[in-house]
Amino acid sequence: VIVTRLELSDFRNYESADVELRPGPNLVVGSNGQGKTNLVESLAYLATLGSHRVSSDQALIRAGTEAAVIRARLEHGSRSVLVEVQLNRGSANRAQVNRAAIKPRELPRYVSTALFAPEDLALVRGDPSGRRRFLDQLLVQSVPRLAGTLADYDRVVRQRTSLLKSARAARLSETQLSTLDVWDERLVGIGTEILVARADLVERLGPLVAEAYAGIAGADHEPRLEIRSSILGAQPDDEGVDARDGTVPAMSAAEVATAFGAAVLASRRSELDRGVTLVGPHRDDLLIGLKGLPARGFASHGESWSLALALRLASASLLKSDSPLGDPVIILDDVFAELDEGRREHLADAIAGYEQVLVTAAVLDDVPERLRSNVVRIEAGRVVGEES
Ligand SMILES: Nc1ncnc2c1ncn2[C@@H]1O[C@H](COP(=O)(O)OP(=O)(O)OP(=O)(O)O)[C@@H](O)[C@H]1O
Ligand SMILES: [Mg+2]
Repeated sequence: VIVTRLELSDFRNYESADVELRPGPNLVVGSNGQGKTNLVESLAYLATLGSHRVSSDQALIRAGTEAAVIRARLEHGSRSVLVEVQLNRGSANRAQVNRAAIKPRELPRYVSTALFAPEDLALVRGDPSGRRRFLDQLLVQSVPRLAGTLADYDRVVRQRTSLLKSARAARLSETQLSTLDVWDERLVGIGTEILVARADLVERLGPLVAEAYAGIAGADHEPRLEIRSSILGAQPDDEGVDARDGTVPAMSAAEVATAFGAAVLASRRSELDRGVTLVGPHRDDLLIGLKGLPARGFASHGESWSLALALRLASASLLKSDSPLGDPVIILDDVFAELDEGRREHLADAIAGYEQVLVTAAVLDDVPERLRSNVVRIEAGRVVGEES
């Protein structure tokens, strides 16, 4: 998919903007804090229904205004679609495709992006929550209907957790206990679907990450991906890098559901003590190994960067082969500034086959020469120049 036009109103620091984009490389330049990241973040929002920088949509709406609009014209082969989302401060967001209303969660069916950003380092070095978000965003992009499953699961966890919390205050009555049983069943039912989808995703991502890592780092450090699951006794949110067990082997959906159900029963005591839902995909982690050790806590800065890039490159190539939208729009937000000369060239090689690439940079010299075309210049939330 290619985006040919991007229009914003009251998004971040843009009162209004209208940019034309081309196939191939597009370079967004400007000094620090002018709005380069904001511009590309808006496009990625359409594909992932979220920002890579903040978890709430509120920060995306221009200060002092009530609603932001992101509108994009996309071309997929000979088909052209106009997608639009309105982010509202006080009410639900709204979305349109070709001017007809759709649910916002349908947007990823029309837009596909692979965004690389300095924040990606946290995929390797940060908390489990960032890796869960990475997996789930990729799931939604490759299988859009899972957006509904993930939203349902979130709701079940929230409601089950609030029941546990109220049970903590008072002793649990018979009715509360049977309500908890009902929530357990939903948790396991919906959660199993997510666990199975994630396991399948990680299995296919593994070889792609290995290939991308070798290309970027120029060496084979045997990167490995494994899901470490709370349904098998791991508690990565509590144990950090030292958690060693609970890695999901190849399990059928029925086996996952059985193990999940057993783990929920076994943890009921501590769940009631803590008032937290302790078992399920929302408590799992993606273990990234390098040279036989967990990358988090062991990999060097450069190795961590190569891994982060490899995860994004692998995602892009997975989407390219899986998504009916074909090539995702590759977005490289400020990444060249972080890389040495060799890695810059390797990255430029790795993305050379994609239909469209958006690059942002404050310093032109950081960007490999072959990516310096279709320059869009940004100043204080305004597009001040476009040249090819
Ligand atoms: N909701 C908002 N309302 C108004 N301004 C905002 C909002 N969110 C962010 N900004 C402003 O946008 C600017 C940052 O824009 P952005 O992150 O796109 O910069 P950038 O050009 O990518 O800079 P850098 O080169 O440092 O990465 C900041 O000045 C910030 O105050
Ligand atoms: Mg930026």
